[in-house]
Amino acid sequence: MLGVYFSGTGNSRYALERFLGGCGETAGAYAIEDENITERIKENEEIIFSYSVQFSNIPKMLKDFIDGNAPLWKNKKISVIATMGLFSGDGAGMLARRLKKYGAQITGGLHLKMPDSIADEKALKRSREKNRELVRMAESKIDQAVQRLKNGKPPREGIGFLYHLAGLFGQRLYFSQKTKHYTDQLKINPEKCVGCGKCVGLCPMKNLHVKDHVAKAEDRCTMCYRCVNLCPNQAVTLWGKQVIEQGTIETYL
Ligand SMILES: Cc1cc2nc3c(=O)[nH]c(=O)nc-3n(C[C@H](O)[C@H](O)[C@H](O)COP(=O)(O)O)c2cc1C
Ligand code: SF4
Ligand code: SF4
Repeated sequence: MLGVYFSGTGNSRYALERFLGGCGETAGAYAIEDENITERIKENEEIIFSYSVQFSNIPKMLKDFIDGNAPLWKNKKISVIATMGLFSGDGAGMLARRLKKYGAQITGGLHLKMPDSIADEKALKRSREKNRELVRMAESKIDQAVQRLKNGKPPREGIGFLYHLAGLFGQRLYFSQKTKHYTDQLKINPEKCVGCGKCVGLCPMKNLHVKDHVAKAEDRCTMCYRCVNLCPNQAVTLWGKQVIEQGTIETYL
């Protein structure tokens, strides 16, 4: 079983690695930006996808990856883990439906509430202790899902008509435009940026570069929030005006 993930701050990667570890799988977990990812997928019949929900939707980069590799999914057996800060309705189901359209057989779905990755908005902010607790709860849910899989009854969270309705009317209709395109809204504060280039290497979209000792963003941001969470000078914002609290999964382990 191969693990494939889209992850900004590491939640979805961590969840997938724990799941695969519990199953005793050794094929490994790879990001969709891995240069050999399509070859790895071709070689494996069973795949488990893990990704972070954005506005109750699939991140644009992941949608493009699925659609751009349509022939890869035919006859694959695929389970989906969706991580979220609060609620997605049908996070796993959304990706499952897209893959099914290209001939995949969907074998399971799992929803995990994890620390919020939007570092520059107050909306879902929790204390560090609360985030640690969330991660512990997610770990326990993953371990239970592994047991269910071993017993031949994998969870099917997020998959089915009622989940679909919850996702649609929860907020997807309202925010449907947010993940339709890549965004040009990423801002870099030139007074805070020291041109260290850390963000350039982190960006899965190659959307950042340093010019004249200051980072610049182009218009291909997929809102993964890596650069916002990891810039050492808190110089990057996207939806909010200032960074409130930075964190990645390692902060809460
Ligand atoms: C742009 C953006 C939109 C998000 N929208 C939602 C949402 O609609 N519902 C939710 O529960 N969490 C939402 N989140 C929170 C993430 O889904 C959550 O923190 C996720 O576990 C991050 O995982 P990652 O570190 O693997 O990227 C959003 C995060 C980002 C960056
Ligand atoms: S990581 Fe921050 S300080 Fe370094 S180049 Fe990027 S924006 Fe500037
Ligand atoms: S610019 Fe930042 S938030 Fe946007 S895709 Fe790149 S790393 Fe992610």
